[in-house]
Amino acid sequence: MLKNKHVKTTPEPTPLTELPVWQTLEAHQQRLSQVHMRDLFAADPKRFSRFSLDHAGILFDYSKNLMDDSVMSDLCALAEQRGLPDQIERMFSGETINATEGRSALHTALRNRGPSAVYVRGEDVMPDVISVLHKMRAFTDRVRGGDWVGYAGDAITDVVNIGIGGSDLGPVMAVQALAPYVKDDLRVHFVSNVDGTHIAETLRKVNPRTTLFVIVSKTFTTQETLANAHAARRWLVEQAGDEKAIAKHFVAVSTNLQAVADFGIDTDAMFGFWDWVGGRFSVWSAVGLSLALAIGIDRFEAMLEGGHEMDQHFREAPLLRNLPVLMGLLGVWYRNFIGTHSHVIAPYDQSLQRFPAYLQQLEMESNGKQVDTTAASVGYHTCPVIWGEPGTNGQHAFFQLLHQGTEVIPVDFIAPIETHNPVADQHRLLLANCFSQSEALMRGRTLGEAIDELQEQGLNDAEIEALAPFKVFPGNRPSNTLLLDQLTPKTLGALIALYEHKVFVQGVIWGVNSFDQWGVELGKKLAKTVVDELDAGLVVSSHDSSTNGLMNRVLAAIQQTP
Ligand code: F6P
Repeated sequence: MLKNKHVKTTPEPTPLTELPVWQTLEAHQQRLSQVHMRDLFAADPKRFSRFSLDHAGILFDYSKNLMDDSVMSDLCALAEQRGLPDQIERMFSGETINATEGRSALHTALRNRGPSAVYVRGEDVMPDVISVLHKMRAFTDRVRGGDWVGYAGDAITDVVNIGIGGSDLGPVMAVQALAPYVKDDLRVHFVSNVDGTHIAETLRKVNPRTTLFVIVSKTFTTQETLANAHAARRWLVEQAGDEKAIAKHFVAVSTNLQAVADFGIDTDAMFGFWDWVGGRFSVWSAVGLSLALAIGIDRFEAMLEGGHEMDQHFREAPLLRNLPVLMGLLGVWYRNFIGTHSHVIAPYDQSLQRFPAYLQQLEMESNGKQVDTTAASVGYHTCPVIWGEPGTNGQHAFFQLLHQGTEVIPVDFIAPIETHNPVADQHRLLLANCFSQSEALMRGRTLGEAIDELQEQGLNDAEIEALAPFKVFPGNRPSNTLLLDQLTPKTLGALIALYEHKVFVQGVIWGVNSFDQWGVELGKKLAKTVVDELDAGLVVSSHDSSTNGLMNRVLAAIQQTP
C-alpha cells in the first residue's frame, strides 16, 4: 500500500477492542441490558445532581442515559488508556495531529483570549491571529457604520456569503442562531449550492449598488463556490457597467492568495487564515466575517470567549467532570457497546435550526472513517449518522420512531432557559415539550399504565384489550439535555466548542484522524470528468451503464433543445 510521507505509522500497543477495559464495558452492557432507567432514577433521588454539570452557561444533564458510576468510570479509564489527556495537550500545543495532511489542528488558537503564545513548527501564530482580527474589526466597523460604500456611493445593506461546507455552515448557522443580535438594517444571505437556483434567487433579492459579496473558500478551488462567485461577479459587472465595481463589492476569505488574485479580488481585500484551521472548525477565523458583519466584532469576540472558556475547561477539568469528554464517551458507549446507529440533535430553539446540519459536517466529516491513524481497518463502528430538526417540529414528524420504533436512538435536547422572543406563555410551552419528551423517552409507558389510562377514558374491556398494546412505549431511551442560560454569542461559542471537543474525544478513542476528509475527494474528481464529457456533447460509453445512461439522457435532451 502507498503511504503518504507525512503519515506516522506508530503501531497501536493494544488494539482498542482487546483492551481489558473494553471487555469490562461489554460486561457492563450485558448487566445493564436487564436494567430500566426508571429503576435507576427510583433507586437514586440524587441521580440528576450526580450526573449533571454546569459550565460556561451550559447545564449538561446526562442523567437520562443508560449508565451508572461504574460505566462512567470505566469509560474514563478507556479514555486514559487511549491517551486522551496527552492527545488533548498535543492538539492545544500545535503538534501535527492531522498527520495525513501534515498539519496541526489549532482552531483553539483562534479563540485563545489569554496572553499565551501558540506555536506551530516553532512559530507563534498568535500575532497573525490577532492581526486578522484587527483587520476584521476595521472592515466590519466601516461596513456597519456606512463608511464602506458601493460603486455608486451607497452604504451596504446586504451581504452575500458565497461558500460551501465549512465555509458556509458555520456562518449561516451562527447568523441564524444570533438573529436577535444582527444589525437591523443589514441582511445577510448565504449561497452554497452549485444549483443555479441558489445564486439566482439570492441575486433577485438584492440591489447591486448596496450588496457586498464575501467569497469564502479555504482552498479557493472549490467548484461550487467558484461557479457562484463568477456568477455574482458577472451580475455585478453587468449591473454596474464597470469592472472597477468589483473592488467595492467583493472581498475574499481564503488561505490561497494567488487564487484570490487570479479571480480579480485585490489581495488587500482578502482576509487570511491558515492551513491549521480545518474547514469545519473555521467559523472562529475570518470565515466568520459575514457573522462579524451581522453582529459586530465585539459580539463575534464574545463568541470566541465562550469557545475559549470551553477550551480551558476541556484542557483542565478531570475526565469525570469534563463536559466534552463525558459527551464524547457517552457517544462511544452507545455506538460501540449498546449498538446504536444514529444520533439525533433536537434544538428546542427555532434559531438553532441549522445546528443539526452544522453538526452533520462537524461530526460525520471528522469521524466518518474506516481506517485508523496507522492506516489499518478499524474493525469497529465509528461515527453514527447525525440528524435532527428543531423541536417541537420534530415531535410531529420523526419522534414517533424515537419512542416506539425498533431502534434505540440517543437524543441531544438543547434549549435556552430564557428566550429572546417572549410571546405569551410560548417559551414555557416549548420547554415543557422539551422536558416531557426526554422524560417520555426515558420512562416509556408500561402495559399496566396504558390499561389504566384507557380505563380512565371509559373504554370497555374489549376495547382496552385491543388498544392497550399500541399504547405501550418501551422507554429506556437515552438523551442528554443541554440547557443554555440564554442563546448569546458567548454561550453559542461554548456550545460549538463543546461539540468540537466531543468529536475530538471520539476520534481519539476510535483512533482515527478527525481532521482530514479524503472521502469527499473521489466525488469531486469524478464530477470533473463528468462535466468535461457533458461539455463535449458526445455519446458517453466510458462509465458503468447507469452513469452512461443518465448522462446520455441529458445529452439527448440538450441536443433537442432549440
Ligand atoms: O466538502 C469538503 C470540503 O473540503 C470541506 O471540508 C470544506 O469545508 C468544504 O469542502 C469547502 O472547502 P473550501 O473552503 O476550500 O472551499
